[in-house]
Amino acid sequence: MKIEGSVAVVTGANRGIGLAFAQALLARGAAKVYAGVRRPEDFTEPGLEPLRLDVTDHDQVAAAARAVPDATIVVNNAGIQAGPALLEGPLDGARRELEVNYLGTWAVSRAFAPVLAAGGGGALVNMLSVASWRSTERFPSYAASKAAQWSLTNALRVALRDQGTLVVGVHVGWVDTDATVRVDEPKTEPAEVAAQTMDAIARDESEVLVDDTARRVRAALSGPLDLLYPAL
Ligand SMILES: NC(=O)c1ccc[n+]([C@@H]2O[C@H](COP(=O)([O-])OP(=O)(O)OC[C@H]3O[C@@H](n4cnc5c(N)ncnc54)[C@H](OP(=O)(O)O)[C@@H]3O)[C@@H](O)[C@H]2O)c1
Repeated sequence: MKIEGSVAVVTGANRGIGLAFAQALLARGAAKVYAGVRRPEDFTEPGLEPLRLDVTDHDQVAAAARAVPDATIVVNNAGIQAGPALLEGPLDGARRELEVNYLGTWAVSRAFAPVLAAGGGGALVNMLSVASWRSTERFPSYAASKAAQWSLTNALRVALRDQGTLVVGVHVGWVDTDATVRVDEPKTEPAEVAAQTMDAIARDESEVLVDDTARRVRAALSGPLDLLYPAL
């Protein structure tokens, strides 16, 4: 679909990958880009329109869909990593991950689905991860939330097909944001994630495998289990 002239909403757009998405949409000619943020009063990024949107607050989600009745691109980017390790620690963070990453994406998608339909279809982008496909002992609940979000993405692909909505899933390994400051591994720049996603929207492609890790893990899904989990 054409990004030029579109009206976009990006959740979690005040920093990290979300801000890169919002800036890329603007750079590619979107007519208006709403930055979904939890504290609009603190948001001063030029060219972007702040929109109060905590994705776990269902009143705010409904109000956001009412506030942007002409949205043609919606990006579910908001996400957290807050869960415990596999064999110890309280489960509260795991519940919060499901609330934001999975149920938040679901709530925003269903609120905006009729808006996108009214505009002729548009695009719904879900920011996923290689963790949608491969879990770890350190981040098992984050991976479970991303697997649930991927499953939801597939259901949305099928359900929104008839209304002409392109549903895009974005998968990547480590990205250089606040969320990964303690990770000492090669990382992709947020702008690269956004650029590849813009290209996918423009070409009507429904899956973005941003880096080698995403491409390798995706391919390993069809192989024996030890391709994904060499320790087995
Ligand atoms: N970084 C990576 O390596 C990586 C890799 C693959 C996928 N991802 C995914 O990419 C997305 C963005 O990650 P990031 O690395 O950019 O993270 P980040 O720098 O930690 O930013 C997270 C964003 O989500 C927002 N957010 C958190 N809870 C929210 C809520 N309840 N409602 C609305 N917004 C909320 C935050 O807003 P506040 O500033 O108000 O907290 C912030 O804008 C996430 O879905 C993440 O799972 C990240």
